[in-house]
Amino acid sequence: MKTFYIETFGCQMNVHDTEKVVGALAARGYREVDSPEKADLVLYNTCSIRDKAEKKVYSRLQQFRREKSKVFGVLGCVAQQEGEQIFERAPHVRLVCGSASYSRLPELIAEIEQGRERVTGLSLDAEQTFETPYARRRSRFQAFLTIIEGCDKSCAYCVVPFTRGPERSRTSAAVMEEVRRLAAEGYTEITLLGQNVNSYRDPSPARWDFATLLARVAEVPGIRRVRFTTSHPADFTREIVAVIEEKETVCNHVHLPVQSGSDRVLARMQRLYTRERYLECIGWMKAARRPIAITTDIIVGFPGETERDFERTIALLDEVQYDSLFSFKYSPRPNAPALALDEQVPEEEKGRRLRILQEYQRAIQIRKNARLVGTVQEVLVERFNPATGQWVGHTPENRTLNFTCAGSGEESLLGRYVNVLVTRSGPNSLAGESLTGTSPAAPDAGAGLGAPPTNS
Ligand code: SAH
Ligand code: SF4
Ligand code: F3S
Repeated sequence: MKTFYIETFGCQMNVHDTEKVVGALAARGYREVDSPEKADLVLYNTCSIRDKAEKKVYSRLQQFRREKSKVFGVLGCVAQQEGEQIFERAPHVRLVCGSASYSRLPELIAEIEQGRERVTGLSLDAEQTFETPYARRRSRFQAFLTIIEGCDKSCAYCVVPFTRGPERSRTSAAVMEEVRRLAAEGYTEITLLGQNVNSYRDPSPARWDFATLLARVAEVPGIRRVRFTTSHPADFTREIVAVIEEKETVCNHVHLPVQSGSDRVLARMQRLYTRERYLECIGWMKAARRPIAITTDIIVGFPGETERDFERTIALLDEVQYDSLFSFKYSPRPNAPALALDEQVPEEEKGRRLRILQEYQRAIQIRKNARLVGTVQEVLVERFNPATGQWVGHTPENRTLNFTCAGSGEESLLGRYVNVLVTRSGPNSLAGESLTGTSPAAPDAGAGLGAPPTNS
């Protein structure tokens, strides 16, 4: 039997693509191993969102440049972006395939097996989404599920439209069928994935929009938590908030990347919304009947960003009071329209703004998390940390909660929903002790969700 090793970089879409690739390879008789040294086929599923991510892949490949007995393959966003140039930089690579062509992957692997020196899957006009019955998910209870691939926006800094191609929504029937199958297999938490889930549009005559799909997924018996990412502010609707209000199984957390608090920068980024429109979406969530945690992404040092623009971003953090955020220094990318913009912000200045922003947000998180001490939060238990003796899970609002469980003994809590009393808080996580009584991991439609999360 042949063996393979795969390493994944980048976003959740890539993580899930890897699960599908692993399934497709297993169906061809390949067995996964845990190091490249042990493998006949070594695959890197790559990310090119920022320069650093791309560099990592080449340094991995460099390590093995004299290795003759293995087949090396580059998948994902660097594969799509660099194409056949990868063969020049790393001549020992034999397979280059972007995500829009994954439905051809079994065929490409077969060609390599038959002795073809080099194969590529780089077409972006693949009409198909990557449908495979074989996805090998890493978790037994949490599942990613793609609802839309690609992106039709053209944010000036971003490579994704070039690396993942145009938007393609899966049919609502295919999505619902997969959700039901997952529920039957014992999965209780589903995360719906897309670069912009809000622009989901059912290609079948039912024509469901995202809010409708979300509501239907949330009703599937056995599913206790539904998450979704990423939302684009220009396509975010009040209906989505209404679904979160009505369906307890939809987690009360929205990741709504803003990128900048300045209208001038937003326009230069081609984000298609203003600060005012963005704050309107935030207003819907703040007025919701259930508290909704809000997180975001911010880019500092976009070309032409002045000190005044940056202050607008800080003022936005103050106004929104995000529960958490990811922040990045602008990284110029090949193909992206912003490459042609002048007024680049010096690296040092980007670093300074990033530090200020992160310190500002840290103080907000310390304050917000401290208010949760004394409340009871429900977590889905994901792992045990032997170093601290704590179990680790997430609350519906997506906060990490580390907790001890008296009397759980050797009994595994993995995959269970546990009510935890929060006793301590930090900027990035909470800690606590479980209350007695855990509920089973198996699907049990109608089971109580525990105390509703409290977040002021
Ligand atoms: N589709 C999602 C985000 C995809 S990339 C959306 O539209 O929000 C994830 C995050 O990486 C982005 O939100 C952005 O903050 C950051 N990012 C993307 N391109 C970048 C670049 N060239 N430099 C720095 N950060 C970037
Ligand atoms: Fe990139 Fe913008 Fe598309 Fe998100 S919406 S993937 S940031 S182009
Ligand atoms: Fe990276 Fe591609 Fe995702 S560039 S962030 S892996 S879509």
